[in-house]
Amino acid sequence: MFRNRECGEINASLVGQDVILAGWVQTVRDHGSLKFFDLRDRSGIVQLVCSLSELEPELLSLVNRIRNEWVVQVSGQVALRPPDMVNRKISTGEVEVRIRDVQILNTCKNLPFDLTNITSVSESLRLTYRFLDLRRPTLQENLILRARFAHALRDFLAKNGFVEIETPFLTKSTPEGARDFIVPSRLNPGRFYALPQSPQLFKQLLMVSGFDRYYQIVRCFRDEDLRADRQPEFTQVDLEMSFVEEEDIISLTEEMLTTAIHQTFGIRVKTPFPRVNYQESMERFGTDKPDLRNPMLIEELSSVFLPSSLEIINQAVKNNGAVKGFFIPDPEKISTAEIDGYNRLVKERGGTGLGWIRFRQESIQSPLKKFISQEVIDRLREKSALSNSLLFFLAGPPEKILPILGELRTLVDQNLHQRSSEEKYFCWLVNFPLLEYNQQQQRWQSRHHPFTCPQPPRLDTLDRPPETIMARAYDLVMNGVEIGGGSIRIHQRSIQEKVFDLLGLPREKYLQQFGFLLEALECGAPPHGGIALGLDRLMMLLLGENSIREVIAFPKTQKGTCLMTDAPGEVDPSLLEENSIRLNLSEASPKKG
Ligand code: AMO
Repeated sequence: MFRNRECGEINASLVGQDVILAGWVQTVRDHGSLKFFDLRDRSGIVQLVCSLSELEPELLSLVNRIRNEWVVQVSGQVALRPPDMVNRKISTGEVEVRIRDVQILNTCKNLPFDLTNITSVSESLRLTYRFLDLRRPTLQENLILRARFAHALRDFLAKNGFVEIETPFLTKSTPEGARDFIVPSRLNPGRFYALPQSPQLFKQLLMVSGFDRYYQIVRCFRDEDLRADRQPEFTQVDLEMSFVEEEDIISLTEEMLTTAIHQTFGIRVKTPFPRVNYQESMERFGTDKPDLRNPMLIEELSSVFLPSSLEIINQAVKNNGAVKGFFIPDPEKISTAEIDGYNRLVKERGGTGLGWIRFRQESIQSPLKKFISQEVIDRLREKSALSNSLLFFLAGPPEKILPILGELRTLVDQNLHQRSSEEKYFCWLVNFPLLEYNQQQQRWQSRHHPFTCPQPPRLDTLDRPPETIMARAYDLVMNGVEIGGGSIRIHQRSIQEKVFDLLGLPREKYLQQFGFLLEALECGAPPHGGIALGLDRLMMLLLGENSIREVIAFPKTQKGTCLMTDAPGEVDPSLLEENSIRLNLSEASPKKG
């Protein structure tokens, strides 16, 4: 038997008992004639102790060889620590194990970094030695909680009649707005599989097959620019249901999430989650991912400012523009130098400049002071309903200034408040436009994916001006991060074809790419809809981490590489030949995403 107990289990109830433990030596401490070790396994850490003068020579020499991170098996007796040695911070802190025998199971060379002092270690070194980094209790806990959370989701879904079905990884393009990762086919020279951006098409087809309720906790692949909350391969909690409407999916998702959060973290989150209309979200928060923890809302200020002696404001309003801004309740907490920084950001984003007024009890401070009349000041004070505040405002076309104000209010909030990850603010974003115009490509594109049903679900809906067509889609946002998205789908071929037309896809192209789906829609496809949650993002937020890399065992860097395995790597020329691939590396600089 390697062990009969785990380190974290050892406590006062075992005093006097003999135990056998196995694990890693986290620290070795010499205290004169006494030697202490902290022994660690997945369950926790326990203190081992031996009195050097009492050990047989052979055991003494073994004990003296042991270094940090060696793997050992230890047998000994559990004893209470002397009262002044008790450590209340750990569950095993009242006791220690008096070493009777030790076996060295493996040694460990000097490690590239100290596992107990990670703050000064670069992330790239941690990722290069991820197998060591993963020894740290924080990462172990993150992954264990992730597994528990996934288990709770599976449990909930199985109890609610969902069938877990695997869908292919070697497939055709499944458009979700990113580039595909492609895989050559040796047996079909010149042809490629695409790794799925999501199981979207397959889950819809499973509804056509009559499975009624499908789910999968599934890896998805997207070749896009990476950020702290994006990975090229990530995991979705993906589900689809037949004979449902928006409300069914929204309420099931709320119940699933709150049940799993309660089972994993013991926290109760209130349902129903608030719903925010897309349009309102853009106008009040300047984003479609509102962080409801941030109380500063964007205000329409055009009528408050007019008539104005500021030409920039008159011009902006005359040209279908507006003046919009938000009041910051702690006016003195932001220095003029910081305001200059925010102004630079506004200009980098293409804005003309940041207007600001600091309202104090009796006076105001603003670079525009001489252009602002007393009436405007009075109206602004009335609007803010605060005796002291700092107003940030922009003038220009709403579609241009709102996202900038959205970014500003997020930054200001982040700089002023340390928001606790304990606060979990979920909300649904609803009533999205079906399409958005891609200026660069001069065409309409889907805001979600092309299989989203229009509101109302009729063919003639699609005859309206494209910008006025709304989608039966909903996004789930938590603390300002999009954690999920879904929709009711198109289940009739005629509507699906018309959407492809609106997207400017030539008929031969969509028949070639999605012919199987169109045919399925003609073969008794039931009304259906679903959702996918980003499991990595959700875990990142639930665990209060700043990057999804902290909740993924073997994540990629921002450049999509794995520093540990050195992927992506070169392949043997014979493999390229077998796959009928010839490389052209004349323009081999890394391509922009
Ligand atoms: P969507 O594209 O919105 O929807 O993806 C669902 C959720 O997946 C997460 N996500 C990501 N997480 C980490 N890294 C990425 N690169 C990444 N991309 C997306 C987000 C997102 O909200 N088929 C539809 C779902 C449906 O309609 O049912 C889909 O994939 O949290």
